[in-house]
Amino acid sequence: MRARLIAPGQAPFELPYDHPVQFFSYALVQEKATQIYYQQLRAVVSDPVLVQVLARLSRDEARHFTFMADVVAQYLRVYGDAVVDPVRDVIANFRMERTCR
Ligand SMILES: [Fe+2]
Repeated sequence: MRARLIAPGQAPFELPYDHPVQFFSYALVQEKATQIYYQQLRAVVSDPVLVQVLARLSRDEARHFTFMADVVAQYLRVYGDAVVDPVRDVIANFRMERTCR
């Protein structure tokens, strides 16, 4: 059981990006997507414990989104137009990747 639980965390996770800002841009979109997912799921469940858990997960993802937004904003302040196309490329081609294979 322990080995089965550890395996996903040890699986390779690769994204095909050249510029560092792209990894944060990917996470920016991914965090917002997971936040919305938990919000939508919470809206259709009736179990009170599950409602609370999903609310906490949603708030947690919102905090992750804020962190990634701050990082991407800092890249834009420091590098300006040089990072616009790399960010745009991530957003235009975003696909939710599996974290374990
Ligand atoms: Fe997250």
